[in-house]
Amino acid sequence: MHISTVKPINKIESQLKGRDLLTLLDYTSEEIDYLLQKALQLKVDTKAGKLPPILQGKTLGMIFEKHSTRTRISFEVGMIQLGGHAMFMNAKDLQIGRGESVYDTGNVLSGYLDAVMIRANSHEMVKELAKHSSIPVINGLTDMFHPCQALADLLTIIEVKGELVGKKLAYVGDGNNVAHSLVIGAAHMGMHVAVATPVGFEFDPILFEKAQKIAAANGGSVMQTNDPVEAVKDSDVVYTDVWTSMGQEEEAAVRLEAFKGFQINDELVSNAKNDYMFLHCLPAHREEEVATSVIDGPNSYVFQQAENRLHAQKAVLATLL
Ligand code: CP
Ligand code: NVA
Repeated sequence: MHISTVKPINKIESQLKGRDLLTLLDYTSEEIDYLLQKALQLKVDTKAGKLPPILQGKTLGMIFEKHSTRTRISFEVGMIQLGGHAMFMNAKDLQIGRGESVYDTGNVLSGYLDAVMIRANSHEMVKELAKHSSIPVINGLTDMFHPCQALADLLTIIEVKGELVGKKLAYVGDGNNVAHSLVIGAAHMGMHVAVATPVGFEFDPILFEKAQKIAAANGGSVMQTNDPVEAVKDSDVVYTDVWTSMGQEEEAAVRLEAFKGFQINDELVSNAKNDYMFLHCLPAHREEEVATSVIDGPNSYVFQQAENRLHAQKAVLATLL
């Protein structure tokens, strides 16, 4: 008798109900795959006008310490499409902005809301909020991670390439929050990942080691280099993000100098496969980290990727809430 090692869907669903989403390190490969499959289905249902109002009567609180276009709007629209409601809160207008403790805030919000999505400066603060909240806390970007972005990125690669396992992903640029989540997510899905950063802007070493172990367990691999050509060589996906993230504005001039040679341009992508796809989490700085000819060219899927934030997050909301 064949005994399947894959857990039934309802088992995965029940183990995800009520969980936080702080980083993809806290999720199994199976759970991430489940969320991606669910996102694909919800996208089909949305386009067909057949989305069930499964979050009717539920409210998502959205706290922002930093700017946002995609995260804010896609979460709000996602809740509306699922029959629920979302509430935008600028952190500086809340009492937390003038010193109320994370402990009190988490406990109080848990009495009003069904989940909180937070974009914060410090990942540690978000962990603290989750610890003191009885409702799911969803990370909408911290200094260390951007897991909802990574889910949308993987979803877009599945749509374009058909599958993730065995595909080569090159991330070129800053070893930042977006890179951390993308590489961890890709490792879970058995991709071959090459990260190219300038010296001094590498991927977090502890996270790099964890990503390597996750990739190995799934038949994939993760390598790091300071040579963008080496990373991009024969890749299916070429990904970059801004060189200066929110909160690092004072370092902009130094970074501009350090990242010279890491721009994704026609010469660099000539090393990728002919049918490579270009991705960027956006917002982008054209002619800085990416040439206009690439981001606006035929291999770019950045707007499909941005739309997929909506569908990937609906999968997260429908599952966790
Ligand atoms: N990619 C992303 O998170 O975009 P926003 O900063 O606009 O939310
Ligand atoms: N790394 C960027 C991503 C923005 C979505 C930042 O943190 O500003």
